[in-house]
Amino acid sequence: MVLEQDDILFFRENGYLIKRGLLCPDLMERARNRLWKGAPHGRSASDPATWVGPFNEEEESRQGDNVRRGFRWLYREPGKEPWMVELLPKNPDVWSTAEELLGAGVIQEPESVRGIYCTLPFGEVPLPRVQPHLDAYASHLGVLGYIDQVEPGGGGFTVWPKSHKKLYYAFESRYGDKKSKNYAEIYAQINAEIPPVEISGQAGDVVFWHHRLGHNASGNGSARIRQAIFYDFVKRDMSRTLELPPANDMWCDWSKALSAGL
Ligand SMILES: [Fe+2]
Repeated sequence: MVLEQDDILFFRENGYLIKRGLLCPDLMERARNRLWKGAPHGRSASDPATWVGPFNEEEESRQGDNVRRGFRWLYREPGKEPWMVELLPKNPDVWSTAEELLGAGVIQEPESVRGIYCTLPFGEVPLPRVQPHLDAYASHLGVLGYIDQVEPGGGGFTVWPKSHKKLYYAFESRYGDKKSKNYAEIYAQINAEIPPVEISGQAGDVVFWHHRLGHNASGNGSARIRQAIFYDFVKRDMSRTLELPPANDMWCDWSKALSAGL
């Protein structure tokens, strides 16, 4: 797969890119089934009435590989399994897209993915207004793949378009998490002025995003569990560039096509 010029320009301008229908149906089915091995007793794949959140006190878990809290369920345990790596970062179209954005032969080989990240249906609970955040991981390019349908209002990944252009300069370094003095002002401006975009889609749809793009998961007003696999692409030269100050050309660590806007 080769990205179109419009894809490159859209990513540069907005900080994210949606490519639909990339993932392998068999692996997605395997992941949807695997999720239920981490479910608390009484919640089952075959009974949608048991999918509604929040988790009650007995169901909550702070165990890192299977966090269940409120409406969020971060099932990280299967993230180390090789087939999960095949499902997302080593999917040929996902990998080639990442290489077109970051450069060929420069990305670290993936050994694991973050896991299956879910948002339970909110049922009668009103959906909150979500606010943007950034992840603390030092990475270049985030990616997520939906493994089940995500209806509009169904807990889709939500982005603050163009925020990467401001947040890139709101840190002391390119990839570290030490915020600069003007971070709070920049964040407040983004939160007040940029209308967020919630991304709905089908199983197999993939979203790529710049590591400094404001994002969050929206509340889930649908009857389905929002299910997505997450991974963070990191270039091999991360240790060299991690603490460099943000560059005048914020695309200087990216592919030639992206840095030239071609
Ligand atoms: Fe995040």
